[in-house]
Amino acid sequence: MRPIVTTILGAALLFGASGAAGATGGEVFEAKGCGECHYTQGPAREKTIADQLAKKGPELWYAGSKFQKAWLSAWLADPKPIRPMAFNDLTTVNPGGHPKLSGGDVAAVTGFLMGLTSDAVKSGKVKPKKNPKGRQIFIKKMPCSGCHQYAGRKGKIAGGRSGPSLVNAGVRLNPDWILAYLQQPKVFKPVKMMPVFVGLLSDKDMLNVARYVANFKPKKKRK
Ligand code: HEC
Ligand code: HEC
Repeated sequence: MRPIVTTILGAALLFGASGAAGATGGEVFEAKGCGECHYTQGPAREKTIADQLAKKGPELWYAGSKFQKAWLSAWLADPKPIRPMAFNDLTTVNPGGHPKLSGGDVAAVTGFLMGLTSDAVKSGKVKPKKNPKGRQIFIKKMPCSGCHQYAGRKGKIAGGRSGPSLVNAGVRLNPDWILAYLQQPKVFKPVKMMPVFVGLLSDKDMLNVARYVANFKPKKKRK
């Protein structure tokens, strides 16, 4: 009996020391230094502009409500710039080069982040849809397009560069989160650059524009 116990203990110690096998997603997140730029415990901590500027990366405490799982795991393994400009910066182009994960760390961290959710997001409200009303709001009425890139005519990238790109946002973002974010901006971004649309857009129009944005997906190629 004894040697077996020792072997198991020895193996556990070995894995513990290498930090790889058996580590939870939260442990990998800390071990890889992700926590130096991202906080993962809600509610939102930022109270002043200085708090916001002190952040080195976007908050992730509601990542499981914001992102689609398939997008998140692919992005963690091969991150590409999301914001045209560097984080918290309107003059420097996003330099890219976000830290990458590989092997089992991708699934572990994806699982960890997808478990971080916010009660403020109600599921099943927003069905992605071609939505002329939403399009009009996005492009003309409240020109969201003044700050956000999207795929315009013939897939050509149009729109402004001060906000995160919304090209293929329907693949990246949870449709219900888009609506929750427009309706309750303070929950997610108490200090922000994007205008607050509460009072400017009716709930119905927020739903229209959320459906429209959630429908931003790559065009299927015809065979
Ligand atoms: C040096 C700071 C820094 C470190 C370290 C870092 N990140 Fe990031 N992260 C950023 C910045 C800045 C962005 C915004 C990138 C963009 O818009 O292209 C970002 C974006 C993200 C996003 C998308 C969030 C959103 O709202 O768009 C996720 C998810 C993420 N990081 C996870 C991680 C994980 C997991 C690690 C550890 C392997 C990590 N980050 C390490 C700075 C950092
Ligand atoms: C004045 C510029 C501006 C306008 C106009 C604007 N946004 Fe934004 N938006 C931003 C910025 C900047 C962010 C990043 C968060 C922040 O700092 O507010 C953002 C974030 C977002 C996000 C989250 C993206 C992510 O990956 O985190 C969505 C979705 C969004 N905006 C949709 C809209 C919609 C829909 C409209 C129109 C009703 C709109 N925005 C109008 C600047 C703008």
